Amino acid sequence: MAFVGSGSATPDQSLSNDQLSLRVDTNDSWIRSRTGICSRRIIGSDESITDLAGRACLKALKMANWDPESVDLILLATSTPDDLFGSAPQVQAKLGASNAVAFDLTAACSGFLFALVTAAQFLQNGSFKRALVVGADQLSRWVNWDDRRSCVLFGDGAGAIALEVSSSKNDGLIGFHLKSDGQRGGCLNLPKIQDNLPLVDGITYQQGGFSTIQMNGQEVYKFAVREVPSILENLLESNKISPESLDWLLLHQANQRILDAVADRFAIPYEKVLSNLSNYGNTSAATIPLMLDEAVQDGRIKPGHLIATSGFGAGLSWGAALMRWQGPA
Ligand code: COA
Repeated sequence: MAFVGSGSATPDQSLSNDQLSLRVDTNDSWIRSRTGICSRRIIGSDESITDLAGRACLKALKMANWDPESVDLILLATSTPDDLFGSAPQVQAKLGASNAVAFDLTAACSGFLFALVTAAQFLQNGSFKRALVVGADQLSRWVNWDDRRSCVLFGDGAGAIALEVSSSKNDGLIGFHLKSDGQRGGCLNLPKIQDNLPLVDGITYQQGGFSTIQMNGQEVYKFAVREVPSILENLLESNKISPESLDWLLLHQANQRILDAVADRFAIPYEKVLSNLSNYGNTSAATIPLMLDEAVQDGRIKPGHLIATSGFGAGLSWGAALMRWQGPA
């Protein structure tokens, strides 16, 4: 299986730290020093997450030189679909990928990594030949814009990767580990609103609706700096790969301090740690493919490069994968 294309899309509207400080009691220097974020993109009135996911997929299709009708699978990692029944079929329709089965997968900020590994199984077991994996999130819809402890972190975006079976015996997905811990789920979640209403004859029902993002920042920070190095270390060891042989460390873009802490733990030089947090903040399931596409486009990631990636977030969920980028044929 090979990674042969990438694409990404972000909304036009940009919201700087200074602008955000007009809304909540915060400031540019606090946000920069604690997170590394300078601005984030926000979907405006004329766009949707399905649009962004579709644009990212189109670019990945173009790089891979694929006919949309040759795609077998579209996996959309998102926690913020336009339709709770799933938005992937609308992405499929936008692309004209009429032969692809399309469905959503939800695992918050780990969603792209979980979807990538899931799609790879279909290719590795011979069920499908071509897949698009897209991570897209619009957390701006679910942030409490008056909660300065969380609203400064998030933004909207989408990124996609094209995967296909290959004749090479060296699989592009070298290895992966995935983890979940629902016991700790309460430190980062977006729970339903408990709204019991009478239906008829004493029968009640729960009206649909969700609250806003609930986050214990310090607990999530501790979780990330403990679990991400640990899962990466296990993955590297089980695949007999040394940190020095990595070309890139591509972590979920949550906080620059988390990226630096993981790099320090493995003595990986900061030049090898991909980061675009300053421009986009945390775009949840989109961060990894958005960053990957940027580095492919500007020539930093080259064919044959070895990348260690790790996603982590609500659930709690986390994972890591080792991948070799191939690029288009
Ligand atoms: N602007 C200014 N001050 C702020 C602020 C903001 N946006 N947010 C919090 N503060 C204040 C707090 O009120 C607190 O003040 P106090 O000491 O007077 O009470 C002080 O800054 C320190 O707050 P604290 O929450 O301890 O900050 P922190 O160093 O832990 O940084 C986060 C907060 C959210 C940046 C950090 O905990 C973090 O990044 N956690 C991980 C979150 C994450 O990545 N979530 C997504 C995972 S997928």
